[in-house]
Amino acid sequence: MPTIVTLPGDGIGPEIMKPALELLRTISEDFSFEEHAFGGAAIDLYGVALTDETLAACKQADAVLLAAVGGPQWDTTDPDAPRPEQGLLGLRKGLGLFANLRPVRPVPALYDASPLKRERIEGTDLLVVRELTGGIYFGEKTRTARSASDLCEYSVDEVDRIARVAFDAARTRRKKVASVDKANVLETSRQWREVVHIVHKAKYNDIALTDVLVDNCAMQLIARPSEFDVIVTENLFGDILSDEAAMLTGSIGMLPSASLGEGRAGSGSPGLFEPVHGSAPDIAGTGVANPLAMFLSVALMLRNGLGWESEAAAVESAVDRALDAGLRTRDLGGAATTAEATRAVLDEL
Ligand code: NAD
Ligand code: IPM
Ligand code: MN
Repeated sequence: MPTIVTLPGDGIGPEIMKPALELLRTISEDFSFEEHAFGGAAIDLYGVALTDETLAACKQADAVLLAAVGGPQWDTTDPDAPRPEQGLLGLRKGLGLFANLRPVRPVPALYDASPLKRERIEGTDLLVVRELTGGIYFGEKTRTARSASDLCEYSVDEVDRIARVAFDAARTRRKKVASVDKANVLETSRQWREVVHIVHKAKYNDIALTDVLVDNCAMQLIARPSEFDVIVTENLFGDILSDEAAMLTGSIGMLPSASLGEGRAGSGSPGLFEPVHGSAPDIAGTGVANPLAMFLSVALMLRNGLGWESEAAAVESAVDRALDAGLRTRDLGGAATTAEATRAVLDEL
């Protein structure tokens, strides 16, 4: 019986976690769920976004399913105050989840839900491989009355391991990797580029590798999205580019993610599965959140976390069929509520 730690978090988090649990219970009665307060909810209860107990529970679990954290009530510019997002960063670091996979696969039913013209989006199927435990997110931070700084640091080993994840993924796809950096300015990017090429030359000659500067990549994602296969990039660039790429699918409410470490085979931790979007404070409590990014994250959990390929494919196909049948939540230009969207997918399943 797989044990899943569930972290509903804040804002729309609990509103999309509930349908995700319904979905999982429909798939199997054999899950053991263990819910923990996380993010702002944990700050309110315990004063910290991620308690030692929650981290320990996540380490023991077979997979961790997270909805979203954050909200205006915890927003502060005080460097010493606790923040919901610290929970997320602490969990990624604490579980060693260095590889964040964000698949962007616009479905034909939603081509017209995107602000981009259909002919630009057609054929797009890309994967953002975002480095998740290094870079400017985790470097030393300083703050004085007159200045502030965030250090961006990458080791050769950190770049080497994420490059391998990207090349291995490309091998199962269209065999193209775009390595995105800012090597015309940043030292970390120049080393990133060197290391990616060394890994490529040593083991991945069958993969077509191109270097793309991040500003150009942001533009190409809109101009020629279908040209991309795998995009591999550092933590901050990957954060920004993946929200941009989400609009190819019609909404940020469609994009799932899987965060993986060395894996259970070694001494590694379980994976973490969560939508790319945040806690959407502007719509929290109104019952209109799109649960599909959460459902597709459940599918990634079934596939990458538990090895349940056929169940994962069944969830993805139920989502596709519900969309084909006309399901549209408000972010996709429709009027379906969270509950109606959930019903539509469960009926297909
Ligand atoms: P956001 O992703 O929460 O929302 C951006 C916009 O997209 C909003 O208009 C929102 O209503 C909409 N949106 C997002 N998800 C949606 C869904 N499922 N259905 C319908 N509409 C949806 O980004 P933000 O507003 O910049 O951030 C809000 C809070 O979330 C912040 O505190 C931020 O730090 C946090 N955040 C958390 C995560 C996470 O937990 N993984 C990710 C991103 C942001
Ligand atoms: C994401 C989010 C997080 C990030 C925040 C909430 C810390 O934006 O998962 O994309 O920047 O990684
Ligand atoms: Mn983000």
